[in-house]
Amino acid sequence: MENKSTYRSFMDSRYFSIKHTNYFDVYDQLLAKFVGETITFVEIGILDGGSLFMWRDFLGKNARIIGVDLNPEATKWREHGFEIFIGDQSNSLFWSDFFKEIGDIHVLLDDGGHRNDQQIITTRCALPHILDGGLIIIEDTQTSFMKFENFQKYSFVNFLKDKINSLNARSDELNIKKDIFSSSVHSIEFFAGICVLHVNRSLSTSTQRIENDGSRNNATDFRYTSDGAMQSFLRASYDWISWDYLSDNRIKKYPRTSKFLQVRLVRGIVRLVIIPIRFANYLFLQLFNLYNLKKLMRQLKNR
Ligand SMILES: C[S@@+](CC[C@H](N)C(=O)[O-])C[C@H]1O[C@@H](n2cnc3c(N)ncnc32)[C@H](O)[C@@H]1O
Repeated sequence: MENKSTYRSFMDSRYFSIKHTNYFDVYDQLLAKFVGETITFVEIGILDGGSLFMWRDFLGKNARIIGVDLNPEATKWREHGFEIFIGDQSNSLFWSDFFKEIGDIHVLLDDGGHRNDQQIITTRCALPHILDGGLIIIEDTQTSFMKFENFQKYSFVNFLKDKINSLNARSDELNIKKDIFSSSVHSIEFFAGICVLHVNRSLSTSTQRIENDGSRNNATDFRYTSDGAMQSFLRASYDWISWDYLSDNRIKKYPRTSKFLQVRLVRGIVRLVIIPIRFANYLFLQLFNLYNLKKLMRQLKNR
């Protein structure tokens, strides 16, 4: 911690500030690329002003540093060259006026009221105004795990966990509803007490499978070979009875059987028998997988 630039700026600040000991490694790692740059940095939560001076010292004189607080007395920091906005971070109207006035920004750091609704509204309202390559940093997210006034079920951390779905919605193999997080947030990082959204729209596009032109050795896919005997049997029999839906490969491999199966009546009868068996087989396979996973979870819990 002592060798971190943000820690030195924190200690050198002439006004009081509160942070946590593990934050400085995270700040240095996340913010190094902005040092000396002409950027707009917004911190929610001013209190005694110490962190405004810390950010100016760390980021350099080119950074435009903006503080937001509910306390009207915080305007006094304007005379030190900071832009100060007074407003409630849980009010979306405040944010629309705010961004209309200041424009898009590089970094938003939320060290305000730390309540779920405040963190969620702030993140959602700020997201469209974070430039590509920019960050939303939410501090003190340990409050998501505190009972007092903060319902854990609707915690900020749970809100962000759900956004993992939004990021995966970019896969064209999945049918998950996309939202603004799908199209703007490249990744989400979780630290102890800090959550970070890395905003980058050009990297948040849909993703597909891709194959190169390399020659195939027809290697056997071993992914299921470590399964137990029962699972292997269920999977093999599932595959076997899946003949009803013939793939090109199978037609090539078993031309006579496939021809027979193409006869409408045969196909109908086969379907009638096969569909329930296949369903039962699938159910058994799923139950077996569930049983194994639950066993694994129990084992991990005891470690
Ligand atoms: C933890 S302190 C900020 C500490 C400061 N960033 C530092 O590092 O020293 C929290 C600040 O958030 C402000 N705050 C609380 N609720 C707020 C809200 N709803 N909107 C804006 N600011 C709020 C408080 O007035 C207080 O100054």
